Amino acid sequence: MTAKSSPKEAIADRLAEARGRTHELIEPLDDEQLNRVHSPILSPLAWDLGHIANFEELWLVQTVGSREPLHGDLGRFYDAIENPRKDRNELPILRDAELRAYLAEVRERALDVLEEVDIGADAEDPLLRDGFVYEMLIAHEHQHNETMLQLLQMVDGYELPAAVSELLGRYGPENSDTPPGETIPVAGGEYEIGAPARGFAYDNERPRHMVELAAFEIDAFPVTNGEYAQFVEETGGEPPLYWEREGDGWVHTAMGRREPIAPEAPVIHVSWHEADAFARWAGKRLPSEHEWEAAARLGLGGTGQVWEWTSSDFLAYPGFEAFPYREYSEVFFGDAYKVLRGGSWATHRDDLRPSFRNWDLPERRQIFAGLRCARSKDAG
Ligand SMILES: [Fe+2]
Repeated sequence: MTAKSSPKEAIADRLAEARGRTHELIEPLDDEQLNRVHSPILSPLAWDLGHIANFEELWLVQTVGSREPLHGDLGRFYDAIENPRKDRNELPILRDAELRAYLAEVRERALDVLEEVDIGADAEDPLLRDGFVYEMLIAHEHQHNETMLQLLQMVDGYELPAAVSELLGRYGPENSDTPPGETIPVAGGEYEIGAPARGFAYDNERPRHMVELAAFEIDAFPVTNGEYAQFVEETGGEPPLYWEREGDGWVHTAMGRREPIAPEAPVIHVSWHEADAFARWAGKRLPSEHEWEAAARLGLGGTGQVWEWTSSDFLAYPGFEAFPYREYSEVFFGDAYKVLRGGSWATHRDDLRPSFRNWDLPERRQIFAGLRCARSKDAG
């Protein structure tokens, strides 16, 4: 046989890139910091790291490669549904050198299995077809990198690695191709929503279907810090997480630093309730997730800077089928969670797509979420 086929090499490279970012994020931290609980709503970083490796072992080594796990039934402590975040540091999870060794050993085994399997478009197993399970694993590590960054906001004196801090450039207003204050009109009609049948997407983005929308307009740019400060002054509302008063203005206090907020940058770290209140105060409303997606396909400024809260509950699309497991999306469907669209400065670029649906509890503020306002168009 000849050398690896190039799709496999591409997958191996992207697995390595994701792991490189994981290592870069934790590189400035010692073991004590990895094991510390910073917030009851966030896991200790040691749990995230073990979970990243265990999820990889479960899918790429045990499921795809039919190998036995390295540590028996350790995997049950890394099950995100079974183990609430507040309890994760009490579990007998791997730590320190053992944890690092587990990450490396699982990766080595996963790459061995990758050599053996057929990931072509005609692969019989839908998990392997077009490399689905590998795409899922890469996206999973990216998404945990973002969760780790939520926690790293709380670590005093933490310095973002250069490669990650470059992404903060995306957070600034200079990345918008449309000036603040502009709105985009969207005509009423039928719009295609969701991911196409081929190519990587999560189960909750499918099937693609048509949705009837009434005419509306949507802000070309997310709500800015300056606009949000005005809302806080006028209503006496809570400032966003990591804002503190200093003199007449506000400073941003993430990672224990005190930096003046940039008035033109999108506001970040607000809850759904706050986002909804802002939109009403501004005489507008949050867009539905369908409106957001239809507008994103026409071109929205400032996406990929902050996650944007929508008015929508996280529900199944008509004809939804869970794949590859119910616990990815299906168990979260209902009115407890609100959908966020777009992506933040901390989201890996590969995961930005108009159909991507993120979801969280409406009171959450530690996520990198802001908002964009919409308004219904009066008939005539
Ligand atoms: Fe996970």
